Amino acid sequence: MDNKIGIDIGYGFTKTYNADGGRIFPTAVTKVVPLVTFSDLKPAFVNNEKFLVGENALREGKGLIDTRTTTFLRSNAWLAVLGYAFSQNSYDLEPDNDVVIVLGIPPGEYSRTASEEISRSIKESVILYDNRRYVFAGSTIHVIPQGAGIFFSYMKDNQDDFRNNVAVIDIGHYTVDMLFFSGGKYIEGATRSSQIGISLILDNICRAFYRKYRLTIRHKDAYKLVTQGKIIILGEPYCIDDMSDIVSPYASQISSLIHGFFENLPNRPEIGIIGGGGVTSLRGFVKLKYKLQIVNDPVMANAIGYWHYARGIER
Ligand SMILES: Nc1ncnc2c1ncn2[C@@H]1O[C@H](COP(=O)(O)OP(=O)(O)OP(=O)(O)O)[C@@H](O)[C@H]1O
Ligand SMILES: [Mg+2]
Repeated sequence: MDNKIGIDIGYGFTKTYNADGGRIFPTAVTKVVPLVTFSDLKPAFVNNEKFLVGENALREGKGLIDTRTTTFLRSNAWLAVLGYAFSQNSYDLEPDNDVVIVLGIPPGEYSRTASEEISRSIKESVILYDNRRYVFAGSTIHVIPQGAGIFFSYMKDNQDDFRNNVAVIDIGHYTVDMLFFSGGKYIEGATRSSQIGISLILDNICRAFYRKYRLTIRHKDAYKLVTQGKIIILGEPYCIDDMSDIVSPYASQISSLIHGFFENLPNRPEIGIIGGGGVTSLRGFVKLKYKLQIVNDPVMANAIGYWHYARGIER
């Protein structure tokens, strides 16, 4: 199998992409691991600390670690998510293998130094999951800003646009990141982030659903409601009548954020690209003055772009 992988650890969801295709799981981690259990909960061990990751952590629901803090990045909990991502993709990570990993971090936390430090701390770590041992000492690791994956994923199919001034919008679960590329280079100083991710809409849908039916639903169901119009509970369809009243105020906030970003850029963007999991909920609700191209597979776009980037790297 291809020894290259793109990994996008978002605040809400972790996406991986390699020759086998894409995978997604919640970026959820807890240190509360039940001692005795009848289920097949498999903890991850990172540098001798024990964690539960992904759906299992969400299901247990206790002691979930806040992924939205600056200390999460590089922590053992963060490494546990990374190890779990590998376990989902059946890799053999022996010390002498030559896996190429391209990893995204929030653009606000990105700098060349931060990127080198993160690679180093990964290489010094040992992660154990499900009787497998993940060691990264022999791997090539590149850490780049989230959003850059969307750029590379678009450029794969539009190579002539590479040298243009390109604005990239990444609508995530908790944040909206906006990046600028000029002459094929990432312009670090132009990056803007705002904490108005799609989880705000999903929260409002959960509330509206409760007001209407007195039933509590989770984000997963709220996402289904906004993208498919209804959910089925015990064979009965349930829906929200005024979905556009819920989404529109948020959508206009997003539009004015994007307009502000475009207007304050050092150069006018010639191309605007949009991606991130939030795009799927906003389709049909956002009106923009500028024409933005929605990247193929917006949810996976960052991870896909990292994978293309990994394939272009010579060791
Ligand atoms: N298969 C899926 N599983 C989970 N969420 C999905 C899926 N498909 C689309 N979504 C949507 O994507 C959103 C998550 O977007 P994304 O993965 O870009 O966020 P993130 O990268 O974790 O967040 P951030 O960029 O703020 O760190 C979810 O809130 C949901 O609305
Ligand atoms: Mg993201």
